Amino acid sequence: MSLKRIGVLTGGGDAPGLNAVIRAVVKSATNAGVECLGLEDSFDGLIYPERSRVLTPRDVTGILRFGGTILGTTNRGNPFAYPRSTESGPVDYSARCIENFHKLGLDALVVIGGDGTLAIAYELQKRGVPMVGVPKTIDNDIVGTTMTFGFETAVECATDAIDRLHSTAEAHHRVMVVEVMGRYAGWIALHSGIAGGADVVLIPEIPYSLEKVAEHIRARERWGARFSIVVAAEGATAIGGGRVLQSAGTVEKMERLGGIGEQVARQLEPLTGKECRHVVLGHLQRGGSPTAYDRMLATRFGTYAFELMQQGTFGVMTALHPPDVVPIPIEDIVSRTRTVPVESDIVRSARHVGICFGD
Ligand code: F6P
Repeated sequence: MSLKRIGVLTGGGDAPGLNAVIRAVVKSATNAGVECLGLEDSFDGLIYPERSRVLTPRDVTGILRFGGTILGTTNRGNPFAYPRSTESGPVDYSARCIENFHKLGLDALVVIGGDGTLAIAYELQKRGVPMVGVPKTIDNDIVGTTMTFGFETAVECATDAIDRLHSTAEAHHRVMVVEVMGRYAGWIALHSGIAGGADVVLIPEIPYSLEKVAEHIRARERWGARFSIVVAAEGATAIGGGRVLQSAGTVEKMERLGGIGEQVARQLEPLTGKECRHVVLGHLQRGGSPTAYDRMLATRFGTYAFELMQQGTFGVMTALHPPDVVPIPIEDIVSRTRTVPVESDIVRSARHVGICFGD
């Protein structure tokens, strides 16, 4: 297919590196004589075509180092079940998206998003909208790629927080519980816990017993370490328990995790006899400037997505298979989550250096 005009959009939660992908797509396209249209707020730019604009190299100059996305994003804009403020429930705007895709003169879409956004785009592709996906998430939980951009930046943020908490925990002989993001995967907790030298790491893949955690903290006390750092992934669960939620999910939005840090701190106090405090890192992990690695990966994904389009390869996402970036069929990744393998060398490494998982 000879490309003349492509669209680019960002969907789902933001991740540091989104702007680097947009920049890479716009520069590759323009350098190949292809016009690039930026669609605002995920698929909203197709539902409301006035919410789109041509992007030139001038528009993307200098954005490589910025977090967020110049196009805006949303995780509540599924065109197949678009939320309405009225009582009548979600509406299906998919046909409108397809019509507007053609009206805007687009040949194909670069869709930068998590598995939810990529699955939506793939449904549109089945209805005649050629797409190439670029996976993004700080959670690093997308199947088929060993790494997503944004993850390393989030791990840096969490590691820095753990470093800072060490000195105050030690000074006050406290237990500090740090709640990190990651949804149903423990990658951020595991990586930052190892990098930050945490004493306990709680991840969704390994249900925990608080009694075991408390015993680990008491054992540290016995050999003279009068403080402990616990990293709790937001999706971690106690053995036989459920996830700690801020709000339940609906057809329009996913459930919101959060609260485990406070719960673990509260429950650990009587078990350890120590003062236990908690910190929720929350969206700090999604903000700020992407690390050099994330800028690199985002740029490689963006330029490769454009190469795939030029070759006429659609219905795939870019994926890191070190040392290469390769295409992976979207249908192989949808509705699946890449969780931490509990027997992996990373988990074993954590155990070797004395990290307790509460199991
Ligand atoms: O998927 C990225 C992520 O930051 C998760 O780690 C977290 O559970 C979720 O998004 C939070 O989403 P929101 O910003 O919509 O509350």
